[in-house]
Amino acid sequence: GDATADPADGGDAPASDELITVGFAQTGAESGWRSANTESMQTAFSEENGYELVFNAADNDPAAQIAAVRNFINQGVDAIIIAPVVEDGWDDVLQEAADAGIPVILEDRTVSASEDLYASWVGLDFYQEGVMAGEWAAEQYGDTETQMVVLEGTTGSAPANDRAEGFNEAIAGTMIETLDSQTGDFTRDGGKSVMEGYIANYGLDGIDLVYAHNDDMGLGAIEAIEAAGGVPGEDIKIITIDAVADGMQALVDGKINYIVECNPLLGDLVSQVVKDVLAGNEVEKEYYVEDQTFTQEEAAEVIDSRLY
Ligand code: AHR
Repeated sequence: GDATADPADGGDAPASDELITVGFAQTGAESGWRSANTESMQTAFSEENGYELVFNAADNDPAAQIAAVRNFINQGVDAIIIAPVVEDGWDDVLQEAADAGIPVILEDRTVSASEDLYASWVGLDFYQEGVMAGEWAAEQYGDTETQMVVLEGTTGSAPANDRAEGFNEAIAGTMIETLDSQTGDFTRDGGKSVMEGYIANYGLDGIDLVYAHNDDMGLGAIEAIEAAGGVPGEDIKIITIDAVADGMQALVDGKINYIVECNPLLGDLVSQVVKDVLAGNEVEKEYYVEDQTFTQEEAAEVIDSRLY
């Protein structure tokens, strides 16, 4: 804002030519986590905070997301933020943004492109989330024969890749065996239909444990288990990642057994990084936000104070 603003110009809001124009290429609206993340970003990048936000949600289509970024470049925005659907395929469009002199800041998910092609990244340690989920599974179930099915996130996405890797490393050498692993695309419907397939193939009795790469797919699995006459959290144990409101409620209700958090409230930190980058200040290449873990008892203690 302008410290000597003329009261006749209509108040405190900065004139639109003073606003920083930011294009944000969001993945889509696949999950409760994503809704919370979009809200956090829209609040942080509000006009009140000095921004004009151009928002695009790509419905989890990598090509549509790249097209949205090209659009931002053509519009000549001041900065571009991307929550990349998948890790691969970013080199060309990131080079185009660099050639146009538009800084790119990544939030949430990572890319496989060279880090010279973006200014910074703000997000969570997906590999560590997988390790924490796997360590708990190993501790609880690793000593008895345990048949596990996995509900994977979007194929090619950083969280699906890293959560699989971290979990598998943590359960290596235990008696947990992976019966099957398929993508449910991070959606509730996807988790439900993949779980229906697992139950049809292996029977309720043939499955001991579900590892879902997010809460929403775990919640879909709960619906499938209940529809088949099973008791989620008892007959079939469930471990998920995110700790969004519906997931935490299912944990308190005993239908999920353990949740590793993935914090979606990244907006304020991303905004700080964008302002620093545009001001020419030095920034870190990576900003990791902390995650917690919750047992059923721990969830009951904190559920009323959760922000998302
Ligand atoms: O990239 C973060 C993941 O994307 C969240 O865990 C999942 O719920 C979302 O769709």
